[in-house]
Amino acid sequence: MLDALLNQIWILSLGAKVYTESEPVMRSSAVLIKMVSIPEYYEGKNVLLTGATGFLGKVLLEKLLRSCPKVNSVYVLVRQKARQTPQERVEEILSGKLFDRLRDENPDFREKIIAINSELTQPKLALSEEDKEVIIDSTNIIFHCAATVRFNENLRDAVQLNVIATRQLILLAQQMKNLEVFMHVSTAYAYCNRKHIDEVVYPPPVDPKKLIDSLEWMDDGLVNDITPKLIGDRPNTYIYTKALAEYVVQQEGAKLNVAIIRPSIVGASWKEPFPRVNGRVGKGILRTMRASNSALADLVPVDVVVNMSLAAAWYSGVNRPRNIMVYNCTTGSTNPFHWGEVVSTVIRVWKEEQKERSYREK
Ligand SMILES: *[C@@H]1O[C@H](CO)[C@@H](O)[C@H](O)[C@H]1NC(C)=O
Ligand SMILES: *[C@@H]1O[C@H](CO)[C@@H](O)[C@H](O)[C@H]1NC(C)=O
Repeated sequence: MLDALLNQIWILSLGAKVYTESEPVMRSSAVLIKMVSIPEYYEGKNVLLTGATGFLGKVLLEKLLRSCPKVNSVYVLVRQKARQTPQERVEEILSGKLFDRLRDENPDFREKIIAINSELTQPKLALSEEDKEVIIDSTNIIFHCAATVRFNENLRDAVQLNVIATRQLILLAQQMKNLEVFMHVSTAYAYCNRKHIDEVVYPPPVDPKKLIDSLEWMDDGLVNDITPKLIGDRPNTYIYTKALAEYVVQQEGAKLNVAIIRPSIVGASWKEPFPRVNGRVGKGILRTMRASNSALADLVPVDVVVNMSLAAAWYSGVNRPRNIMVYNCTTGSTNPFHWGEVVSTVIRVWKEEQKERSYREK
C-alpha cells in the first residue's frame, strides 16, 4: 500500500500538469488517478484535528499549515485544563520551537487555527451548540490523532479515550454535511498477536459495545481483575483498545470515507520541520515495552507518519475508494533497527541533548 501511494506521489511530483475532472486522467500501474496535488487538495478546506497537544498532532498541524498554506482553517479540539483555556493551550504550542520555521515562512498562520473547547470522553464531546454547528457545517477532513499514550493505562480509562471517544467522533462525523475524509490514527501493534498482518481491519477480540456496557456496571477492582484475561495475548491495554477502536471506525464509519494509518513507535523527526524534533517517546518505550534485544523495534520518524497521513487523506479525498483504506507506516523491513540499538541510541541521543542543554544554560 505504501508503495502504491509513494508511486503516486512520485508521479504527482513529476507531473507538473494538473488535470481536472473533465480532462484526461493518468493511469498508474495500480489505479486511475486524477492529478490534484496535495496542497491543491487542501486548498480552501476546513480540517478538524484531535490530539493537537500530543506529539504527532502538533507536528501534523505544523506541516499542514506550512505545506498547504491555502488550507482554510483548522479546528483543534482541546480540553480545558485546570488553569488553562483551550486557546491558551494552543497558543503555548504555537509559540514553541516546533513552529519557528512556519512563523518565519507565514507569520499569519495563527489566524487559521481555531481552538475549540472539547472533552473527547464526554457525551457529544462536550461541544457547545455553536461550536457543534460550525463543525458540522464546515468540516471537510478529520484527523483523529488523540489517544492515551500510556501503554498501561487502566482498562476503563483506555477504553474511554481510545474507544468511546473515537465512537463519539464518528457519530459527530456522520452528521457533518461536507465531510470528505475521516483519517484515524491507529498503531502497527493493534494486531501484534497475529503472525501476519495485512492492511485490513480484523474482527475485534470482543464486541466493543458489549465491553463498554460491562464497564458501566463493573467496579474498578473487578475491571482490574479481568483485564489480563480480556487483553489475552496483547501486551497492554493501549494496544488492546486501539484494536477495538479500528473496529468501531470500520463498523460505525461504514458510510464515511475512512482511512486508517498504523504507525509503529513514533519517534523523533528525520527532516522536518527540523531534524530530531522530539516527543517523550524514548523514556516511554524503555519503560513499558518489554522486548529482547534482538527483536525488531520499529521506530518511525514522526515526519514520515505526518507526510503519510496528509497524503493518505488526500488520496481518499480525491479517489473516494470504495473500501476502507489501511496503511502500514513502519520501517521494520526497510531499515531494521534492533532493540539493543534502540536502547543505546536513545541513551546516546539523550546524553547529547543533556550536553547541549548544559552548554546553553551556561
Ligand atoms: C505491516 O506491518 C507489520 C508490523 O511491522 C508487518 O508485520 C506486516 O508485514 C506489514 N504488512 C504489510 C502489508 O506491509
Ligand atoms: C515529507 O514531505 C516533504 C514534501 O512536502 C519532503 O520534502 C520531505 O522530505 C518528506 N519527509 C520525509 C521524512 O520523507
